[in-house]
Amino acid sequence: MRITVTVDGTSYTDDVEPRTLLVHYLRERLGKVGTVVGCDTSNCGACTVHLDGQSVKSCSVLAVQADGAEVGTIEGLARDGKLHPVQQAFHDNHALQCGFCTPGMIMQSLDLLAENPDPDEQAVREGIEGNLCRCTGYQNIVRAVRDAAHHMRPGAGPDAER
Ligand code: FES
Ligand code: FES
Repeated sequence: MRITVTVDGTSYTDDVEPRTLLVHYLRERLGKVGTVVGCDTSNCGACTVHLDGQSVKSCSVLAVQADGAEVGTIEGLARDGKLHPVQQAFHDNHALQCGFCTPGMIMQSLDLLAENPDPDEQAVREGIEGNLCRCTGYQNIVRAVRDAAHHMRPGAGPDAER
């Protein structure tokens, strides 16, 4: 089936098998290997991307379901050599060790912050509960998301700029 999908701001038209998962289309056809596969069974969240602005586990979406949609991946966040504030906050707060969960964790955090720009610890934990990390114990991830919220808040002031 022929699909046209916009990924990180660039439009692609491709013929895909109806059974092709979005995550495999992104990685294998488009080379967007920043989006990773941890389980392939919609449990770990490592493959999280945005589909028309909502976070989805791209191993649970068919590529044909993204036809006509806008997909955002971790690879579209940094601009002009500058990390996105959520990426920067993960770096600053040592919120990753092996880094395998990090692309999905960041994409899910962005979705959470779009819905709740000032989440408390509990709200962050609930917001990322579908994303598993085997390394960090989550404490620094929660800290990073709250730090990113602080820096992304409108009117946070020049000292909040990154
Ligand atoms: Fe998609 Fe684990 S690879 S949820
Ligand atoms: Fe290793 Fe999260 S940093 S799985």
